[in-house]
Amino acid sequence: MQCLGVDFGGTGIKGAVVDLVAGELAADRHRLPTPQPSTPEEVAATIAAVVAEVTGERPCEGPVGIAVPAVVTDGIVKSAANIDPSWVGCDGRALLSDVLGREVLLLNDADAAGVAEMRYGAGSGRHGTTLLLTLGTGIGSALFIGERLVPNTELGHLVMWGSDAEAEASAKAREVRGLEWQEWVETRLNPYLAYLESLLWPDLIIISGGVSKNPERFFPYLRGRAEVVPAQLENNAGIVGAALAAQEALG
Ligand code: BGC
Repeated sequence: MQCLGVDFGGTGIKGAVVDLVAGELAADRHRLPTPQPSTPEEVAATIAAVVAEVTGERPCEGPVGIAVPAVVTDGIVKSAANIDPSWVGCDGRALLSDVLGREVLLLNDADAAGVAEMRYGAGSGRHGTTLLLTLGTGIGSALFIGERLVPNTELGHLVMWGSDAEAEASAKAREVRGLEWQEWVETRLNPYLAYLESLLWPDLIIISGGVSKNPERFFPYLRGRAEVVPAQLENNAGIVGAALAAQEALG
């Protein structure tokens, strides 16, 4: 079984046909830069171009799952921390289903990555409380009890150090502040994890996002009460999870 998945990120919009049995891409993924400003109309046009490239190479009927870096409830985008503010209140489902001529499922990007990791990756077979964190431009979070998702948890916006935790502890914040991996983990990530653990007491924490491709750079310094593991689907988790969620909801 195959389904289309798209991941709308801060710098790129990526899409691919996903093999939902294997939990991996069925063919090469296509990527276009995220338009700036990232308004709904411009992003919708770019998503349409990515989907046209993907399906031009590998036809795929049916719905498309789209992961977005924002709160989404019932197809409506409700926040815009790292995207154009005009997304707030936008009926993303109506806009994108219109532009694509397909049924569309919209969900938060961290939730999409989490759905994929719970089914095919680091969370597979786990029954307790799992927290997935995506460390990228911002920090995304996805909370699960077994495979059951609590959507839109937005734990990157917990207040620490007088601002949003993501402003200090994201992968981008490490680069912007010029921190070495060890310093970033010891002064930012470990206190953030400790705060999350004191609130949620997860059994498992999955670290996702681009940094999870090279866990050896920072995992040795991580301290958690819970088991802390790197994600297994790397950069494709959002695409795979969006496709899986769309197939399950609309397929
Ligand atoms: C947004 C989240 C998103 C995360 C990762 C945060 O700034 O509020 O919705 O999941 O960034 O992209």
